[in-house]
Amino acid sequence: MLYRTLGKTGLEVSEVGLGTSKGLVERLSREEGERLVARALDLGVNFIDTARHYGRGEAEARVGAAMRGRRDSVFICTKGGTIAGGGRSFARESLLRSMDVSLQTLGTDYVDVYLLHMAGPSAVKPGSEPTETLLELKESGKARFIGASVDGSGVWPALANDALDVLEITFNLADLYVAEEGFLDAAVEKEVGLVVKEPLAVANFYRSAPYPAWVAHLWERLQYYDFLRDESEMSAAEIALRFVLGEPRIHTAVPGTSRVEHLEANVALSDGTPLPETFARQIRDCYRKAVAAVG
Ligand SMILES: NC(=O)c1ccc[n+]([C@@H]2O[C@H](COP(=O)([O-])OP(=O)(O)OC[C@H]3O[C@@H](n4cnc5c(N)ncnc54)[C@H](OP(=O)(O)O)[C@@H]3O)[C@@H](O)[C@H]2O)c1
Repeated sequence: MLYRTLGKTGLEVSEVGLGTSKGLVERLSREEGERLVARALDLGVNFIDTARHYGRGEAEARVGAAMRGRRDSVFICTKGGTIAGGGRSFARESLLRSMDVSLQTLGTDYVDVYLLHMAGPSAVKPGSEPTETLLELKESGKARFIGASVDGSGVWPALANDALDVLEITFNLADLYVAEEGFLDAAVEKEVGLVVKEPLAVANFYRSAPYPAWVAHLWERLQYYDFLRDESEMSAAEIALRFVLGEPRIHTAVPGTSRVEHLEANVALSDGTPLPETFARQIRDCYRKAVAAVG
């Protein structure tokens, strides 16, 4: 496993982390989920991305159980602000309570990174109530570093807020916004830690219909990536993850999985071998065609 410095936090994070939002809680029993997280830690993954909201607390519970006895060698990134029944609240009281429940569920007294979950521009404004609450959590020692998970053009207001140490962004073979619009260069300039969510484009290259609906745009774009269907040289999943890991300006990618063999395959890709340029070029070409056709 190769490690990268997470921007100004100085944390040495595994370039392949683990995402815990879906498969881990939806397809596995609690025991199986704990075993999968523990296996990831055994393989050198040290950055686990979770959230209060994932599986209504079940993801944090599984992560917490898996890291018992080895808290010091794991970086936990969790998020607050989404509330039961849907919707968001970044109000001070709500975030403070959410953090306390996360700590209790994870079985720890601090998290390494605490993020506003799916934050809009007003939440990430300097001096906003959510920003001030994050700073309060940092000051208290409950969060070592703070930031936000943001999407699309929403990455820019977050980057403008100097209080934020880490941003969680989308970057994958079907979503090149951060690379093409100059965001990655700007983030390097500000030494912001970058965590990549959905690095496999939610495996939409393996689906015959868009699912889940909120990532349908990725599925629609991937219909223009014909070369991914020929897996004789490299699987679509490998092409996708190697493409993200080949980007030196990001620090850790957090693929989600419910299968130990997929976890092991993903970790094995952290070998410093770049994606062959023929694939990288096809990705860029297909992306342009797809965006022109379906947005
Ligand atoms: N902050 C936010 O708002 C936000 C939003 C979305 C995601 N996230 C974070 O980002 C993480 C990753 O996103 P994601 O899970 O939605 O999407 P993803 O990592 O792009 O894709 C996950 C999908 O890829 C499949 N997969 C994983 N490894 C594979 C392999 N080697 N070969 C074939 N298929 C493979 C998984 O299926 P199997 O289970 O069969 O392996 C799953 O269907 C989440 O778990 C979460 O931590 C954060």
